[in-house]
Formats: sequence, structure tokens, C-alpha cells
Amino acid sequence: MSPKRILIDTDPGIDDALAFLLALASPEVSLEGITTVHGNVSAPQTTRNALSVLELARASQIPVYQGCDLPLVKESLLSPETHGDSGLGYANLPEPTTKAQAQHASDFLIETILSNPNEMTLLCIGPLTNVALALRKEPRIAQNVKEVFVMGGALFHPGNTTAQAEYNTYVDPHAAHIIYHSGMPITLTPLDVTYQCIFTPDDLKRLQKIDSPITKFIADSTRFYMEFHDEYQRIEGCVINDPLTLALTFMPEICDYQNLVADVDVSSGVGLGNTFADVYNYDKKTPNLRVALGVRPRQFMELFLERMESLAQKIS
Ligand code: RIB
Ligand code: CA
Repeated sequence: MSPKRILIDTDPGIDDALAFLLALASPEVSLEGITTVHGNVSAPQTTRNALSVLELARASQIPVYQGCDLPLVKESLLSPETHGDSGLGYANLPEPTTKAQAQHASDFLIETILSNPNEMTLLCIGPLTNVALALRKEPRIAQNVKEVFVMGGALFHPGNTTAQAEYNTYVDPHAAHIIYHSGMPITLTPLDVTYQCIFTPDDLKRLQKIDSPITKFIADSTRFYMEFHDEYQRIEGCVINDPLTLALTFMPEICDYQNLVADVDVSSGVGLGNTFADVYNYDKKTPNLRVALGVRPRQFMELFLERMESLAQKIS
């Protein structure tokens, strides 16, 4: 079976970087482009980080396109407390020797999806500003994209940014609203499943048996991320939201799903950015999201660790 052609829209971001590494270590997918967006850090910084991580993984042939540096409506909300000022925790990668492409991320998404009808899988692991802008500029991408996987939301799980809202959705709830109501075939990976997938200090010790720039990067970046999770949420380890979302593009059996009528709150109250579902479908609407609500954490973690080990053995 030929590999899935994927595009990643992203705000690297420690767990975003781990998702890149998992994609590069997985023959089931072919990463054809990265579009960067504001989020964990600014768009110029997420762009630098994407270029640096690709260079670390000897994958600089993959083009990077910079996108929006502000949400559609709200003020910018970065998360240095979670990912560090650089966005990659304590990792200190050299300045990238490559540059981003000149084309805007939203235009690259439009051009690539329209010129490859029903071929491209879009993985969205940051605030959805670029994808919403692309949809508004060219609504036909909704009918031409093969499938969309979104890391976002917290349906029956507490938020990680407000009591109810998950970060990607809270940062740009208006963009999320556009995506959720676009008619695109979307699979949502919310905190309900990602918070069961914790990368632990023991998992890191296993990877550190291999001496490689890859394992050094994972150690340096996740050490900061683990400190955040310990301090803010008393979690021993760190939640690797984005790699789980990537894994579902080629191993959907890791999770169990429900087709739901779902929405995101864009009102200005305490619920802003909250993703919720009409579970009993009182309004008899057609479900608009396939939501991952069950997960087999060890199956995912084993996949992630095995793939990181094989990538680390290739890159010394
Ligand atoms: O809420 C978690 C999400 O927000 C992850 O994608 C993380 O990288 C941040 O973007
Ligand atoms: Ca992210």
C-alpha cells in the first residue's frame, strides 16, 4: 500500500516536533510539506523550529511555509510556560541552514490540495488559523482534501488552558468554528484521549540507551515539558498530544471513535474555546466530527518508542 501523502499545519512546539519525528520514522506516511502558524511561540519562531527539527532528522528536503502570526479575531496567546521561550524546551538546535519557502502557508495548502484532489491528508496540530484562512480564500479545498486530522478540544475532559478549553482551540476559536463547520472529513483527537498518552521518565530512559542527536533532542525538549506537567498538573511525564494525532493517520485502531454533532463556543464568556458535543443529537443534525474518545495508550506508546528507537539508530 503506498504511503499516505500528508501535510502538517503546526506550531512547534515540543510535541509537534515529536510528531514530525514520528512521521519521518513511519513508512506508512510521506510528509510532503509543513505549514507553520502562531501558537506555542510566534510564527517566525515556529518556522525556525520546524526547519531546525527537519535538519536534525536529515529531512531538510521537506518544504516549510510560514503562515499566520495572529489569530483571526482574538489577541495572540503564546505558551512559553509550556514549551519554553524557544518553543523546544531546553533543546538547543543550531540555526537552520535552510529557509522557509516564499509562498504563504495558506496559499501552499490551497495549491497542493486543489492540484491533488482527494490525495492529501491534512494533519492540524496547532491553532487552526492557516487552515481557516485557506478555506475562506478557497472554499473548494473542503471538497478536495482527502481527510483532516485535528489535535484539539476537550469534550468530557478538563481544559488545559481554561477550565473548559484546550489550547489550540482556545487560541483561535473562530478558526476552529470555521473548520468544524466546513464539511471536511475531520477526525478530532481531544485531550480526552491524549491525556492517557503520557511519555514518562522511564520511556525517556529507554530511548537514552541509544546515543543519537535524536535521543538528545527528545531528552532536552521533553525535560522542560515534563517540568511543566509536574508543576501545573502533577503529572509524572508529559502529554504527547501531537504524535498521537499523527499516529491515527496510519494506525486508527489505536483509538475508538464516535461520530458527533460538535461545536466550539465562540461567545465571550467563560466557555470561550470550549469544544462540546450534542451527544443525544436533540436537533437531529448530521454529525460533523469523528471524535476519538477511547484509546489504547500502551499500543500507541510502544509504536512511538519503537519508531523513535529506529530513527535514532539511523541518525548518529
Ligand atoms: O493542547 C495541546 C496542543 O496545543 C498541542 O498541539 C500543543 O503543541 C499545543 O499546540
Ligand atoms: Ca501543537
